[in-house]
Amino acid sequence: MDDEKAPAASLDPAALGVDPDVPSVARIYDYYLGGRENFPSDRAKAQEMIRLAPGTMEAARENRAFLGRVVRTLAAEGVRQFIDIGAGLPTQENVHQIARRIDPASRTVYVDFDPAVLVHARALLTGTDDAIVVEGDARHPAAIFDDPALRAHVDLTRPVAVLLIALTHFLSDEHADALVGHVRRSVPSGSYMAITQMFPGDHPPEYVKEAAAVYSGTNTGGVVGRGRAHIASWFDGMELLEPGVARVESWRPPAREGGPAGEADEGAPGILGAVGRIP
Ligand SMILES: C[S@@+](CC[C@H](N)C(=O)[O-])C[C@H]1O[C@@H](n2cnc3c(N)ncnc32)[C@H](O)[C@@H]1O
Repeated sequence: MDDEKAPAASLDPAALGVDPDVPSVARIYDYYLGGRENFPSDRAKAQEMIRLAPGTMEAARENRAFLGRVVRTLAAEGVRQFIDIGAGLPTQENVHQIARRIDPASRTVYVDFDPAVLVHARALLTGTDDAIVVEGDARHPAAIFDDPALRAHVDLTRPVAVLLIALTHFLSDEHADALVGHVRRSVPSGSYMAITQMFPGDHPPEYVKEAAAVYSGTNTGGVVGRGRAHIASWFDGMELLEPGVARVESWRPPAREGGPAGEADEGAPGILGAVGRIP
């Protein structure tokens, strides 16, 4: 059996209730990260995107590394509760695994709307009491924050970090703005919000259209690139952690072997990230 026909490592689409012919953004991202929980339809979309933007796999890895640095940074600031919306398929260094190394009493709630993510996360979390997964759609944030399982697992009267990592570009402006607004109203002072968002760079509008076309046949129906000003507006009135809105690879980068990395090409497409504290 050739690779294109080979089934994903452990997904049984019928048991999951997923249609393997409809590409899923969670499984496409799993492919970018080198995972095996993806089907031929996902790999075809991923390869189309890589042809359009050859830096896509690297950008996905940098995005995941940013997530790890953010969890470590916020845990060092004393945060012990994490809500990870658009959590994705479990991979290496999931949020609760990083958080529990810093304090085993940390609590994590994973939220996603993709059945494959829910099944895999539940399997990973069996026998674990510091993390749960709940089904939720980021287009309906009130239902997420009212979820009884979420409210039993984290205490929303105490600071929490809400992670919206590589999620908002799958939402329309209206839904993304509403989600951010709801998050900010739902968590107390001293809480944090972290966001990463696809950024088209200086590429012409045709590039943005082509990227949207690649993702149009997926389970989110498209992808929306956004620039710094829109992302910064989500943090209005919050204290932005240094260095503010930045390319994910430039946000507090680890020391690299052989010295600092070269200057990032600020006009190249990529992923921007930021972390803010609610005053
Ligand atoms: C690119 S993955 C990012 C995974 C992880 N946050 C990371 O950055 O490593 C995007 C995730 O968002 C989820 N997602 C997309 N739209 C969503 C929605 N409306 N509600 C909940 N989850 C959504 C997808 O199912 C997928 O798991």
